[in-house]
Amino acid sequence: MAMARMDVTETFHHIKFCGHLHTQESLSFAQNFDFLGSDILIATYPKSGTTWMQQIVSLLLSNGNPQLVETIPNWARAPWLEQYYFKDLCRVLQSPRILSTHLPYEILAPALQGSRTKVINVIRNPKDAAVSYYFFHKMANFLPDYSTFDEFLNSFLDGTVHYGSWFDHVKGWAGNAKNLNIFYITYEELFQDLGGSLEKISHFLGCSLLPEELSSVQRNSTFGSMKDNSMVNYTLIPNNIMDHSKGQFMRQGKIGDWKHHFTSKQNTRFNDVFNVEMSDSKLDFVWE
Ligand code: A3P
Repeated sequence: MAMARMDVTETFHHIKFCGHLHTQESLSFAQNFDFLGSDILIATYPKSGTTWMQQIVSLLLSNGNPQLVETIPNWARAPWLEQYYFKDLCRVLQSPRILSTHLPYEILAPALQGSRTKVINVIRNPKDAAVSYYFFHKMANFLPDYSTFDEFLNSFLDGTVHYGSWFDHVKGWAGNAKNLNIFYITYEELFQDLGGSLEKISHFLGCSLLPEELSSVQRNSTFGSMKDNSMVNYTLIPNNIMDHSKGQFMRQGKIGDWKHHFTSKQNTRFNDVFNVEMSDSKLDFVWE
């Protein structure tokens, strides 16, 4: 049976957010958040590897012991700052707190100013992020229902999808390295060299793990193991919120899947918009 959609939208700083998770109060709370130097903040555009990084950081801080990631859902151990339950949850989070956000840099910049909070920014090839986001809209009843990929792609390219423009998000976080204690990594690097990536992330976080502990982090953060872990694969979310008959959160976990979904016309349109949008930045990405 098709579920009724519940795509109530909350708008904050001209960006759309899902109304069942965000309120004006929760968004303002995030904007004025009192960051600590010990905090770890995972900043991502949606569908760029947020859950993957939440898993990696949780495991690194647990010296590879999977007990936490097998018993506590990702949204409780690495909650999103901007979601409505965060204010209460943050009272009981233990240090170092693992926090997540999809907010653009500009909204959090004043709160982060001067803090030594360790920010991890994961960036994914926007073509793959767009495909992943499109399929997520199919199952997430709290997001608008786009009838075609082409229609979705137009909204993605003009930045009117929920959480705003990929281009603004990436330029904001990646363009402000000097103001932040930030570590950048791409989804593609995680995918191509998970072991090497884990070493870099643990170095940034100041965690020193034994080789066998790092191997356990790696084992428990592969796509295969996360797909089967109900604490990260979102199967705990009831069907009226995420319709699991319409897709899986852990969908493909691959790089370059966009090639199976973009027409050559869509690819040209995407490249044209990408070139214009990124022309005022010095960022240069090699995705594959
Ligand atoms: P796909 O839809 O392309 O499969 P986020 O957590 O930011 O919402 O991102 C979700 C995307 O990350 C999904 O992409 C999901 O499958 C992928 N993902 C999650 N864990 C992963 C892992 N361990 N390895 C590779 N991809 C992973």
